[in-house]
Amino acid sequence: MKEALRLNQISEYYFVAKLAEIEQLNSSSELKVLNLGIGSPDLSPSETVLETLKQGMDEPGAHAYQSYRGTSLLRNAIAAWYKDWFDVYLLPDSQILPLMGSKEGIMHISMAFVNPGDKVLTPNPGYPSYRSCTLLAGGIPVEMPLKATNQWRPDFDILCKQDLSNLKLIWLNYPNMPTGAKADLGFFREAVAFARAHNAILCHDNPYVFLLNDQPLSALQADDSLENVLELTSLSKCYNMAGWRVGSVCGHRDHISAIMAFRSQMDSGMLKPVQQAAAKALASDRHWTYQLNSTYTRRQQIGYKIMEALHLETAGNASGLFLWGKVATPDINGEQLSIALLQQTRVFITPGHIFGSEGDQYLRLSLCSPESDLEAALYRIQTMFHLESEQSTTY
Ligand SMILES: Cc1ncc(COP(=O)(O)O)c(C=O)c1O
Repeated sequence: MKEALRLNQISEYYFVAKLAEIEQLNSSSELKVLNLGIGSPDLSPSETVLETLKQGMDEPGAHAYQSYRGTSLLRNAIAAWYKDWFDVYLLPDSQILPLMGSKEGIMHISMAFVNPGDKVLTPNPGYPSYRSCTLLAGGIPVEMPLKATNQWRPDFDILCKQDLSNLKLIWLNYPNMPTGAKADLGFFREAVAFARAHNAILCHDNPYVFLLNDQPLSALQADDSLENVLELTSLSKCYNMAGWRVGSVCGHRDHISAIMAFRSQMDSGMLKPVQQAAAKALASDRHWTYQLNSTYTRRQQIGYKIMEALHLETAGNASGLFLWGKVATPDINGEQLSIALLQQTRVFITPGHIFGSEGDQYLRLSLCSPESDLEAALYRIQTMFHLESEQSTTY
């Protein structure tokens, strides 16, 4: 039996094999791997959120199928969240669709809007799913280089000179993963104007909105008509609920209806107590974000020391859950450094090439580990790590 041809265009997600390798290393050695690669928060959701989930489990109807559109409780909570944080007013019944995390939203949006042969602008470096979901939908991913010299933002003047006929979607994500760069409202307005000029939809993926970011923004603030923008949000990172699988897509009612038509064939709603607890999380006061960020700030300081110990160049002041560092010497790339580091010290840091060719010389360090692990990784690097002289003369 031959698999479907569409699978020829994509490969298994990098972390599937990498995590298996780490497991194998852990079973064969006393020195356990310190995994500073994955962006899965190690901290817990708030007590109130956990309590809401537990109580919800005993309520009548808790285990039944739920509405395809999500509960009105959760849609109202998402609407209130947008109003409180961003002064964006959304109609809970038609402009908001709860999702099982934002990752599935990338697929749903691609399937709902991309026809075979349509173009989709995908950031390089960027979250790999933008590109693979475009390919799975039969579209043509057109790389949009993000450069350090342009604050890791696309250059719309250069893009305008390209043949962008049949452009359907433009994927952006700020605070940016993997680079930690931020955007501002002026930039989002420029991006919406670019989308409008090309009759395309700007799809903004916003899972890191409050993390180490003192000016949280929604791209929906840049388009009152909502005609050229969709936004994905997620509770995975900002509320420590990655395994719960909760997020949303918001935008114009017609766009939400189109996504709904596809999505309702894929799943049958989300566990009701998860939706109740998610609504509670979204109503958390600003103290929650403040506390979370003070933990990540302490971790970030150790993270920068790790980057320094590895002679990686960083821009400083990164937002989100990662640090992005450039390998200083051209003799060795990010992947080689990551492999050597894992072999010698059992510290894993993600090589930047998995986010696109613009990431070849970079490593991405995750802040989703306790300070003690980050300190231990720093110590291992300072005491155990050196590269062979033919690979590098500067280490
Ligand atoms: C940029 C970006 N978008 C989306 C996701 C997926 O998040 P979720 O857990 O909401 O599916 C991630 C997860 O790492 C991410 O980094």
